[in-house]
Amino acid sequence: MHTLAIDVAKARADTPATARLVHLNNAGASLMPDPVYRAVVEHLQLERAIGGYEAAAEAEPLLEDLYDALAGLVGGHRDEIAFVENATRAWDMAFYAIPFAAGDRILTAEAEYASNYIALRQVANRTGAQVEVIPSDNLGQIDVTALERAVRQGGVKLVSLTHVPTQGGLVNPAAAVGRITRAHGVLFLLDACQSVGQMPVDVSAIGCDMLSATGRKFLRGPRGTGFLWVRRDLIAHLEPPFLDLHAAEISADRTGYRIRGDARRFENWESFVAGRAGLRAAVRYALSLGLAPIRDRVYALGRELRQGLSAIPGVALHDLGAEQCGIVTFTRAGFAPDLIQSRLGADGINVSVSRARYAELDLGKRKLEAVVPASVHYFNTSEEIARTCDAVRRL
Ligand SMILES: Cc1ncc(COP(=O)(O)O)c(C=O)c1O
Repeated sequence: MHTLAIDVAKARADTPATARLVHLNNAGASLMPDPVYRAVVEHLQLERAIGGYEAAAEAEPLLEDLYDALAGLVGGHRDEIAFVENATRAWDMAFYAIPFAAGDRILTAEAEYASNYIALRQVANRTGAQVEVIPSDNLGQIDVTALERAVRQGGVKLVSLTHVPTQGGLVNPAAAVGRITRAHGVLFLLDACQSVGQMPVDVSAIGCDMLSATGRKFLRGPRGTGFLWVRRDLIAHLEPPFLDLHAAEISADRTGYRIRGDARRFENWESFVAGRAGLRAAVRYALSLGLAPIRDRVYALGRELRQGLSAIPGVALHDLGAEQCGIVTFTRAGFAPDLIQSRLGADGINVSVSRARYAELDLGKRKLEAVVPASVHYFNTSEEIARTCDAVRRL
């Protein structure tokens, strides 16, 4: 491997658990690097020392920097960012704000995250809008030709796309989708939960209108953190499903209310402030390493893992798409995914299990009840990959 623009020794020193653990569950929740851990703990210490509101006031410049950091991360503006407690709620705040009517068409793809798909169906049931799942092409990614054909038929209000699914290494061609939605004036909501922090994700290059992501996965932030980005000129047209005194203010005549003009209309007043500080540290940490070097190393390690696993008798790889990222999914004949997870866990190797109910449109269709995702990050090493393959071989 020669994509070593990342200082791996330093990244591992910042991540003490790497000394005793092979953590390949970075798409579940990665390990926080020490600066992130310290940012959370230091804020909690400040709260303990002077009080929660007082601590937030003292930390305000740093907490405000979260918006600049996130804007820098996705190529947006700070007023387009909302802190939300997780990716699902961030996505919901945008999706449920879109005014759908009977007959509106909502297009999605087979990689759609189950929570999103449930929300699409709920809104369709309530409003009479229609949900259509665009089929995948022969590589297993969204068929952009079929998408364009569907959009050309008219009546499409929204394209909802999961960039990288929960259940595999596929990277959907988001920019190709964005070119179609832009050309036809259709809204594009991108679930970038599994891609942000793993690779460069630029909202202008992709051409999406709304993007949701979480803190704990490839960004290596604390749990219970996430964010939403909404294109500036769209914000005023989206009335959040919930409003509070942070998102809006009561009008002078007390008969109405005025919703704030920036993306913080999608936030709520109370939040995990120490988590905000930690998320800010995580984004700054990722930006300091560079998202392109992160992607190069993650993809290279992913390829190594796929290669190593494919040489093991009985192992089947399940990743789809022309572009494949650091999430490597496999099964081994005769070994249930839960058993693989627990046996590797006993060897100090963390992997995950993805079940069909997380991604019914994809795993369900492929008749895969569950798969084992092993998701690498830049702090993993070739030795860890070799050790993991060895452990799978010896199962
Ligand atoms: C593609 C995708 N979208 C959304 C989510 C939900 O993220 P969160 O748990 O932060 O709400 C996940 C979680 O695994 C995911 O994989």
